[in-house]
Parts: sequence; structure tokens; C-alpha cells
Amino acid sequence: MCGIVGAVAKSNIVPMLIDGLKRLEYRGYDSAGVAVIKDQSIQRRVNVGRVAQLEQDIDFDQFKALTGIAHTRWATHGGVTEGNAHPHISKNNVALVHNGIIENHQELREELTAKGYNFYSETDTEVIVNKVDDFISQGSDLLEAVQKTVALLKGAYALGVICLSESGRLIGARSRSPLLVGIKDNEAFLGSDMSALIAVTNQFMVMDDGDIVDINNGQVTLYNSDGDVVERDVKTSSLSANAIELGQYNHYMQKEIFEQGQAIADTLEGRISADKVLEQSFGHEAAHIFDQTESVQIIACGTSYYSGLVARNWFEKFGMRCDVDIATEFSSRPHVVPEDALVVTISQSGETIDTLTALEKAKKWGYKYSLTICNAPESSLVRTSDLVFMTHAGPEIGVASTKAFTTQLVSLLLLAIVIGRRRTLEEKTEHSLVNELRSLPVKVEQALAQDQQIAKLAQRFADKHHALFLGRGLHFPIALEGALKLKEISYIHAEAYPAGELKHGPLALVDSQMPVIAVAPNNNLLEKIKSNIQEVRARGGQLIVFADQESGMDADAGIEVINVAPVDDTISPIIYVIPLQLLAYHVAVIKGTDIDKPRNLAKSVTVE
Ligand code: M6R
Repeated sequence: MCGIVGAVAKSNIVPMLIDGLKRLEYRGYDSAGVAVIKDQSIQRRVNVGRVAQLEQDIDFDQFKALTGIAHTRWATHGGVTEGNAHPHISKNNVALVHNGIIENHQELREELTAKGYNFYSETDTEVIVNKVDDFISQGSDLLEAVQKTVALLKGAYALGVICLSESGRLIGARSRSPLLVGIKDNEAFLGSDMSALIAVTNQFMVMDDGDIVDINNGQVTLYNSDGDVVERDVKTSSLSANAIELGQYNHYMQKEIFEQGQAIADTLEGRISADKVLEQSFGHEAAHIFDQTESVQIIACGTSYYSGLVARNWFEKFGMRCDVDIATEFSSRPHVVPEDALVVTISQSGETIDTLTALEKAKKWGYKYSLTICNAPESSLVRTSDLVFMTHAGPEIGVASTKAFTTQLVSLLLLAIVIGRRRTLEEKTEHSLVNELRSLPVKVEQALAQDQQIAKLAQRFADKHHALFLGRGLHFPIALEGALKLKEISYIHAEAYPAGELKHGPLALVDSQMPVIAVAPNNNLLEKIKSNIQEVRARGGQLIVFADQESGMDADAGIEVINVAPVDDTISPIIYVIPLQLLAYHVAVIKGTDIDKPRNLAKSVTVE
């Protein structure tokens, strides 16, 4: 969840470290800090709050160095205080940044305290930096000290470590938390992901779990967990620095909502022919694996889980059994492992530790095949799955996921089609679905054209404390997603219910202060949801209904209808989520919240 940057370069690295932190801030923004080797000492600047604050407090004319590390924090162990902010320093000799959680920190803390180490923070990280110092004091150099230290750690970590006596050296280590090495001429960098480094290089190496990298005056040597020197491919990132600029928009979330038409077009490109889904786009092994697949098990978290809930409808409609689990629940419950099941993980970041853990467990328990639908090319999920299908959404910076969700839905529909072909999906249905998919970018633009109408509607929410979202069938997950978006960025308590469940409890909550948002496309459930809407209306509830303009749903006392352009039922969730994203966005604008970095949240959840 935290973001790490490190550098050993030929010229001053402080501006680059701060720029890298800004680009990593989506991972955590409770506090930020930087430590460099300068004037024969380790010098540190830390701040509670945002990187911008840290930047303001640094005197860039004075604070210059060639070796340094930096960190933006999402608090786990210990509160949000300067004392707990990274980098952590041991005896003005070693400085270290850490992303992850060390489970055995207490026993290491006791051992180090007995040796005379004083702890100034409540973090688990401070044990690591002290342990590295401890090994150095016994004669190890920095590399060996880190190797010996990580051998003692239980848990997850990505580390960047520097040491006063080896001023041109930076050691990185990773286990179950992401870390990349950026390469440029005789310089090298560490970053939690490529966005941190893209302003200085597009050449990078992905570290495997257990790897340790030694960056020593521009020389880069990688060691695996056995301590053997290993080669890892140097890759070229396709990320462009511009792709992560805000441009004409006020917030990344707004930009990403408006990029959805293009993101969907990019996700479809090369994956469909005139009338078919191209199965090879799921990989060489795909046909063989899909031929064997007897059931699908989807695993994901948050918004990605909701895309899985939509997809279950598609899989089962096309004759393939499908279960969907929240990753932590999948890991926590007993399983009767079905034969020839395909595990499908869905993740924007590909680094969500709960999803990774669930996949590991699924493999251990005997689930046979795995496929990931992911937006981050070199991520851990991509590297540990048998089949990979990339959503081409481009970088998603806003913590609230938007274009990742709609491109996940498109990808899942393509998957349901190629698997469904082997079951009950008829050729002519595939043809018409492919046509519908091709028309999606235009339909997305139509939905986005309602932006100002929804901005006006949002004014009715600004003073509300609760909201209820209703949907049925394919659209219950869309109601869930609408509620999640609203609570994440506007802090309004929002619940989503299957509309049919209303009378089994939640109807008791309805009064004039509780806006009720209903997702009511023109499908076989329309009459049922109309009845649910009347149940709310009869109890004085204030309804906002997103309905097909041909559905005959009219505005009435207590009911406001927002018309949505007609859309084929199967792909309709991809369109109906857009007004809900816009609604959450505009409510948050009115409330003045920090839309791209809502309180307490981080974009990429890499701790359990
Ligand atoms: O990167 P992932 O898709 O695996 O992330 C899963 C969730 O953490 C994520 O969708 C989260 O719920 C978003 N903040 C939702 O907007």
C-alpha cells in the first residue's frame, strides 16, 4: 500500500524522488519522507500529510544528494505521526523504507531492545532497519546485512536500504510486495511501480519474490532467495509520463470516467473479428484450458469483485457454472474443489494481496487452471496465472475505480463468450453480442453526455447522510458499485440491496431523508422493479430512477427519472454504471472531499 522510490545517480536525485513519490501517492498518503546521504550523514525530511507538503518544506537548493530513498505511507503499524513516517533510521548509519507488514516484529524488537537498540516509533519497520544495523556492526557489508535480515522476516516486504559508510549503494528486497528496478546508463532506481520512475527511465526489471538487488554506483546485481546471482529481463515500459498527467480535468477520477469509451475500444482492439471473439487473445494455452473447464470460480476484491458478480450472470446464461467470492472469504471458507475448475482473478493493480493469497490457496487446494483479468502488465497476478487477459484501461490513478471496472466487464464478457461457445451460446448470439460490444464506445459517450444533468441531481445529496441503491439480477452488482463509489469519495453511508429484498428489512430505513436510487433497465425484471419502486414511494421515499427512455417509467411525485439511451440487456451494466460514477463524483465535488485520495484508503491494497 505504501509507495517506495530509491535512486543512485550521477546527479542530484532529490527532485526525482519527490516526483516519484507524487506519482506513487495513490498507494498511500498518510505521511511522506525522504532520506539521503549528504555531508557524511544521513539526512531525513518527513511530514505528516501529503507529498506536496513535504515538497514545500524541502529547501531544494540545499538538500541535494546522489543516493537516497523516499516513501509515501499508508499506516498499518502505528498511527499517522512524524515518528512513524518512513524512512526509518538506525543510529544515523542505516536508513530504510518499507512496504508491507512484518508479522514477527515483536520478537525481533525484544531481541534488539535487549541488545541496546532504542525504538522511537510504533512501526514494525523499525525492527528491520535496526537489524540491518546490527549485522553491519558485526562486520557485514550492507548487502550481506540485508540478506541476513530478510532471512529472519516473516510477512510481506518491499525494502529500500541505504547506509552511511557505503554512500553509492542502495539495496532493494522484495517478498509479496511489489518492487521494480529502473535502469538508465550508469544509474539505477527502485520503485513500487513504473509510474514512480517513468520520468527518468522506461527500462526496468521486475524483481521476483525473494530477490535482492544490489545497486552499487550504477552496477546492478540481482540475487535470488538462495543468494545466487540471477539475470532478469530488462523490459521497456509502454507507460508514458503524459498518460498520468491530469490534463484538462479537475480530478483523475473525472478524467478516468471520461476515458472509458477509449479504454473500452482499446480493450476490444485485436480481441474481436467482424462477428467473433478471438479466443487466442487469452493466450496459446487458452483453447486447451477452456476445453477442459467444467466450472468457473471468480475471486476478487472491491469493485473488481462486483465485476465478477455481473459476469456470473453471463457465464451461467451461456451454460457455464460460475461461483464468485470475495478474495478474503474464499481464503477463509472450506471448499469442495470442483474438478477442472478455472479460477479467474480480477484486479486492476494485480498486486492486491488478498487476491494473490486466495489464488495461492486455490492452487494449493487443487483448483486446476488460473486466468487473471488485470490492468497492470508486470504485476504479481499476471506473473502467477496460467492465462492472462489484460484490460487496456491505461493507468488508473484515482482511488475510486472507474475505467478499470468497465474494461473488466468487457473482458469478462469476452471470456464468457469464448467459454459459453463450448456450452449453450449460439453462434448467432455471439455475432450480435460482438456487434453490441463494438457499439459500446459510442454508447459510453451518450451516457457521459448526461454529465451536467447528473451534476444538478447531485445537489440533492450534499446534505444527506445515507442513501439506498436498488438493482435486480445483472444490475444488483451495479447498485453495489454505485453505493461503493458514493461512500468511498463522498463519505455518505450508502447501502445496496437487491430490490426484491427491500421488504425483508431495509424498507424500514426509508423516509424522506433517505434518497433511494434504483437501476431499472428495460428488461424482463422491469415490472418487478417498478413494484419495488412503488413500495418505496408509498412510504415517502425520494426516488431517483435510472431507466431506459423506452421503459415507460414516468416522473411522478417523489420519483425523478433519469433516462438512459436504449441498450442491449447483456451489455447494459457497462452503461448503467456510468451515471452512478458521475453521481458519486459530483456529490463529492459539492462536498469538497479529496476525490482522488479519499481518507483512509489506498489504491493498491498490498497488506492483508
Ligand atoms: O487492484 P484491485 O482491482 O485488485 O483492487 C481491488 C479493490 O481494492 C478496489 O477495487 C477498491 O475497492 C476500489 N477502491 C474501488 O473503487
